[in-house]
Amino acid sequence: MDLQFLSETEPAVKTIGKNLTQEKQFMAREEKLAKKEKKHYALESHMLNAWYGEKKILNDINMKIEANTITALIGPSGCGKSTFLRLFNRMNDYIPIFRKTGDILVDGEDVYQKRIRIEELRKSVGMVFQKANPFPKSIYENVAYGLRIQGEKRKSVLDLAVEKSLHQASLWDEVKDDLKKNAMALSGGQQQRLCIARALAVEPSVLLMDEPASALDPHSTHRVESLILELKEKYTILIVTHNLHQASRVSDYTGFFYLGDLVEFNNTKDLFTHPKKEQTENYISGKFG
Ligand SMILES: Nc1ncnc2c1ncn2[C@@H]1O[C@H](COP(=O)(O)OP(=O)(O)O)[C@@H](O)[C@H]1O
Ligand SMILES: [Mg+2]
Repeated sequence: MDLQFLSETEPAVKTIGKNLTQEKQFMAREEKLAKKEKKHYALESHMLNAWYGEKKILNDINMKIEANTITALIGPSGCGKSTFLRLFNRMNDYIPIFRKTGDILVDGEDVYQKRIRIEELRKSVGMVFQKANPFPKSIYENVAYGLRIQGEKRKSVLDLAVEKSLHQASLWDEVKDDLKKNAMALSGGQQQRLCIARALAVEPSVLLMDEPASALDPHSTHRVESLILELKEKYTILIVTHNLHQASRVSDYTGFFYLGDLVEFNNTKDLFTHPKKEQTENYISGKFG
């Protein structure tokens, strides 16, 4: 090696090195800005496919849901709505034959990454089921449950959370003098609102609801529907319903599923008044389902 050459080129190498560092810094800044500008959706699915054993249930589902909106999933029974809903808090993990490809994001983060802790995920993505499932405990303990398993022991904190959640679930006035009463003694509609309060107590950002009113009488259904509308201010809600009137009453956006395909996704008004696909039109006009 020619030492003379090396010493002559050294300043040039240094300059290149300096430019490279500057360029790196510039790129890092650009990346940061791009990330900041990139819109975060509350919920997203990318090319989502799912199977139970050999049976394919969902085909290439792409959906983007903005925060503080209500999205209804409609479609005939067995077409994959519940399976899709349960992906967002990983409830399908319990089914050994379940398998999926594609991504599910909550607040911009892939919830199937290894480092995701399921308990944390379930705290931010709460769920309410079709059949109210209160625990055979007092009203108070039902609502305090999530905080207790997180280790909260302070009575003042629990009292406050119970009251706040029952208020949010519009049940407080009916039960405030009876918090020690067994939850199983409440009416079906009250039990469902209690389950909503239980889900809200751990302060989720997303609420998944799988036909939450389908087992309720019309009056209780109405109460739950108005409650869902109120909750939109604070939560992003994804709701499965086979009740088309309910979908059109409560939701901002609607997705129509058929045989594992997301046939159409649009704002609710347009989907119901100007469906783009024939299958959607046939379904909403009651020709099948
Ligand atoms: N745990 C399971 N094991 C096997 N197959 C299932 C399971 N859960 C649902 N399925 C099947 O997956 C398909 C979609 O079900 P689901 O997501 O519950 O539909 P929907 O909520 O639209 O009625 C159905 O054919 C159903 O039989
Ligand atoms: Mg279902």
